Amino acid sequence: MNLKLYCPNPKHYENQLLFRDITALDWIDPIKQPGTQPFLIIEQGMLGLADAQWPKVHPVYVDFQSGAVAHRRLYGGGAGQAVAKAVGVSKKKNLRILDATAGLGRDAFVIASLGAQVLMLERHRGVHLLLTDGLYRLGFNGELGDIQQRLTLAHGSLLDAGEALAEFAPEVIYLDPMFPERSKSAKVKKEMAIFHELVGDDADADALLAPALERAEFRVVVKRPKQAPHLAGKVPTTALIGKSSRFDIYSKRAII
Ligand SMILES: C[S@@+](CC[C@H](N)C(=O)[O-])C[C@H]1O[C@@H](n2cnc3c(N)ncnc32)[C@H](O)[C@@H]1O
Repeated sequence: MNLKLYCPNPKHYENQLLFRDITALDWIDPIKQPGTQPFLIIEQGMLGLADAQWPKVHPVYVDFQSGAVAHRRLYGGGAGQAVAKAVGVSKKKNLRILDATAGLGRDAFVIASLGAQVLMLERHRGVHLLLTDGLYRLGFNGELGDIQQRLTLAHGSLLDAGEALAEFAPEVIYLDPMFPERSKSAKVKKEMAIFHELVGDDADADALLAPALERAEFRVVVKRPKQAPHLAGKVPTTALIGKSSRFDIYSKRAII
């Protein structure tokens, strides 16, 4: 399905390049007015995701440099965070980790900021575009340049065993597929609701576990809402409980 793109000020210097690049894609349809389905928006030289049903809600951006992601990098607890312990960066800093459900790249960024080499894999074309834009802007931030160097992005899925994976031998695979209950929860912010509306429920998520277990050298980590059933009904080796999430760890062998 084609995605709509709204750019209120295409002639503004800061929007021009991005607008030109994105409208060159044959699956993008420019629109003159905001739509009621989730649509891409270019404002202030950034690519975001918005929905006119919620005109007061800020667009969703992949923003590694400010807001919640920056706060988490500075004050989130570093290698002591549940996600860091779960993937094992607290044991081995420079792990090769495949984030096979990259989304908005927030977990990937945390893990890379702690020293891991992370390949982000995302199958949704629109979300992949948002990540491309976020990584591009991160490239101009000299202070965070080392983290940007450790993050790479590919379009595709572990289920297709695509080309992107051929050269990356992951030591750990991280999975955080959408969980249907999340979008119905009153706690889910409107911004995330827009994202969920675009991406859907990842109904095939169970199928990710077997290929992940096949490819990962040390372990597979699955992030789930605290009360959710195990992915593919498979009981993990162990689990770490975070504030609102659970990290199920499927160990193959010890991290060395
Ligand atoms: C809940 S989000 C991930 C959020 C991410 N952990 C973060 O910190 O921003 C799930 C994402 O995984 C993607 N996804 C689901 N199944 C996938 C698959 N088989 N291959 C690639 N991406 C997938 C979805 O398109 C969605 O963007």
